[in-house]
Formats: sequence, structure tokens, C-alpha cells
Amino acid sequence: MPSEHGPGRDDAASPAVAKPTETIVVERITHQDVPAICGLFKKVWEGEKTGLPSELVKSWQPSPLEFTSWMEGVTYFAARRDGRIVGVVGCELDQGSVQLLDLAVDPDARRHGVASSLLASALDWAKRSEALEAWAEVLTRFSAASALFAHLGFAESGVLHKHQWREDVRLFERML
Ligand SMILES: CC(C)(COP(=O)(O)OP(=O)(O)OC[C@H]1O[C@@H](n2cnc3c(N)ncnc32)[C@H](O)[C@@H]1OP(=O)(O)O)[C@@H](O)C(=O)NCCC(=O)NCCS
Repeated sequence: MPSEHGPGRDDAASPAVAKPTETIVVERITHQDVPAICGLFKKVWEGEKTGLPSELVKSWQPSPLEFTSWMEGVTYFAARRDGRIVGVVGCELDQGSVQLLDLAVDPDARRHGVASSLLASALDWAKRSEALEAWAEVLTRFSAASALFAHLGFAESGVLHKHQWREDVRLFERML
């Protein structure tokens, strides 16, 4: 069941509010979406690679075959605007908590509530899955993602030093 995020929405991730200028539709992905999602990851991480370890940039741009294997055990949501996929997030349920993975929004669609809408759907799914907590890892250098999680009411619960290819990682969590 797709969820629409536009004017007057009332969903799990308040206080986040999508800007009421356009409608963003979030729904679970299907195998038909895989090529578009891989294209989105490529666009996002090619645009962000300055200074990032090349191993990371490469590992975050899966081929369709690799992404299909990422989908095992992970529930992915995609956000569409005007029918086009502009954002994605994965949710992995493990022992009563949900890790939020692979969040990415098209650089041309940022600051319009796309990530907020995706995370609203992800948190709603986590609650319905009876998770008690949602959490995410954010590279310290990704200030936009840290600001996003803080904006959505996540608390920072620590830093893992030199955790991913020598990059420090901040941990964010939110009780459900
Ligand atoms: C981080 C990211 C997912 C945010 O997506 P987005 O759709 O632009 O986020 P939203 O529009 O829902 O932002 C909601 C709020 O988060 C905060 N925020 C988001 N991006 C921000 C930025 N660049 N600077 C400061 N605050 C920011 C703001 O509070 C924003 O509300 P506002 O626009 O009303 O001020 C996007 O920038 C992205 O894909 N970055 C590259 C990949 C990445 O870092 N992924 C996360 C890995 S953990």
C-alpha cells in the first residue's frame, strides 16, 4: 500500500513534515525497480565521492545483480516524484530492532522532504514489525544525514572510530 506524503500528512515520523509543494509517493520496491535504483545509487555516490575512500564509493554502487542480493532479508522502500524514483532506504529487522540502510536521495530532489517521507514509511514498517528501536550508521563526514536524523528525533548514541574504510561513523537511534 503506497503512502502519500503531501499537505496535511500525519505519519509515524512526526515532527518531520514534507514540504507541501509536491506529492511524494513511498512504496516497497519490486524487482522491476532494481535498474532505476542502481542508477540512483550511481548518481548519488558519483556526486559525493570527493574525499571518500574509493572502496566505499564503489561498494555503494551495486550492479543490478548485487542489489538483488542486498534485497535478501532487507525491506526496501522507494520514493517517487512524478513517477520517477528519487530516493531509497532499506530496513533490516534483527532481534527486535530495525537498522536503516542505504539511504540515498537524488541530488536534484533534496530538501523537499524525500528522505523524511522515506523514513516515515520505514519507521511505520518497523513499528508494524514490532521493533522497539530503529537505528542508523552515518559517516561523520555526512553532515546532511546527521542533520536529517537529528531533525527526525533520533538521538546520537556514539561514534565508532575508523569503522568503515578508516571513516568514523556516528550512531543514531530512535525508540518506536
Ligand atoms: C541526507 C539525505 C538523505 C537527505 O535527503 P533529503 O530528501 O534532502 O532530506 P529532507 O528534505 O527530508 O530533509 C529533512 C530535514 O533534514 C535536515 N537536512 C537535510 N539535508 C540537510 C542539509 N544538507 N543540511 C542541513 N540540514 C539538512 C533539515 O532539517 C531538513 O529539513 P528542512 O529542509 O526543512 O530544513 C541526502 O542529502 C542524501 O542522499 N545525501 C547523500 C547520501 C547520504 O548521506 N545518505 C545517508 C547515509 S546514512
